Amino acid sequence: MDHAKGLAGIVVDETKISSTKNEKLTYAGYSVEEIAKAHASFEEVVFLLWYTRLPSEDELREFRRDLVSKMVLPAETIRLLLYIAKEPQHPMSILRTTTSLLGTTNDVDHDEPPKILAKMLTAIAAIIRIRDDEPFLDVDPELGVADNFLYMMTGKKPNAELSQMFNTVMILHADHEFNASTFTARVVASTMSDYYSCLTAAVCALKGPLHGGANERVFEMLNEIMSQDEDPIDFIKNEIGRGRKIMGFGHRIYKHGDPRAYILKDIAEKLAEETDNMDYYNIQQQLADYMLEKDHLHPNVDYYTALIYHCLGLEKETFTLVSAACRTSGWLAHVMEQRREKTLIRPNSEYVGPTNRSYLEDTAVKEAR
Ligand SMILES: CC(C)(COP(=O)(O)OP(=O)(O)OC[C@H]1O[C@@H](n2cnc3c(N)ncnc32)[C@H](O)[C@@H]1OP(=O)(O)O)[C@@H](O)C(=O)NCCC(=O)NCCS
Repeated sequence: MDHAKGLAGIVVDETKISSTKNEKLTYAGYSVEEIAKAHASFEEVVFLLWYTRLPSEDELREFRRDLVSKMVLPAETIRLLLYIAKEPQHPMSILRTTTSLLGTTNDVDHDEPPKILAKMLTAIAAIIRIRDDEPFLDVDPELGVADNFLYMMTGKKPNAELSQMFNTVMILHADHEFNASTFTARVVASTMSDYYSCLTAAVCALKGPLHGGANERVFEMLNEIMSQDEDPIDFIKNEIGRGRKIMGFGHRIYKHGDPRAYILKDIAEKLAEETDNMDYYNIQQQLADYMLEKDHLHPNVDYYTALIYHCLGLEKETFTLVSAACRTSGWLAHVMEQRREKTLIRPNSEYVGPTNRSYLEDTAVKEAR
């Protein structure tokens, strides 16, 4: 039987939400480069992913107002969050529990995607605030969704330039067709399970270092190089010599460069300059040049995101939470699409273990018979 390890190259279903065909990332037919260059807002892109068309001005205004108005958490969730977010477990483990928790409050049966996205953003900001020993912040109805998320996370209202950059960061993370976490969400959705179960499963998949967890590891690597005052190229050679992968490089789909990384690189450089973090950026440049020359490996979305999140004042352990916040919009788009399809995802495997064994001959439990 023919099979592809890790489903590489296999088209498992159709989607109208996003595409990476020919290594170009498009959302409902629009290239992300064009969307990012035109400085679209995060909420406009969420509308595009959910309804596969751009909103009118009135629709966008109403969509934004609705999402922002829902960026509050039930009191019982806040009480429980105050308890669990302080635990020493990794923040992604806390988010996994939190996502499940959001799906068990009293009013949850009536939660629709806008409320679910708004709650997820608010809960992620809250986890970060609790871990920083800072008080919760109420949503500001004057700000958009991305600005509110940034404000509720960091306590700072962004100026126009930062707002534009952060909207772009969120847009670039919003969706990526059938990546591991989205596919996981779709598998759960295909059983007609509820939205929060789909998102909880997606968070579990995103947590791993080969997927969303890579951004944290990128920053760990940069810190290690800086703290040991080691030559970055020697460090990389050593790691590769030990058979280790270099986090933030390579991609299952993009073999000639991740289109998101080019845009994020510019944002990382600007923010690094403004926040006196150019040492990190310069090391990243050296590593990227070396990896390209040696192995033809390009940086992926997580490579520059690590520095961007650091420049925003976030702790490295919380980097993947921010990616989860952005990707929740895409997960929800796919869950809605999968639910409309009403087809159970249930592939086959090729069994390669022993065959024709006899239980009665092999079992050690013979006496009782
Ligand atoms: C993302 C990733 C899992 C894609 O994997 P994939 O499509 O299954 O590709 P493979 O892991 O089979 O890699 C193909 C080859 O490139 C090498 N390679 C891929 N990524 C590498 C990396 N980051 N560092 C060093 N070598 C790498 C592999 O060792 C393999 O070499 P080989 O053919 O000599 O065995 C992989 O590139 C990776 O682990 N990257 C680091 C984690 C990361 O940044 N994840 C975020 C993704 S957005």
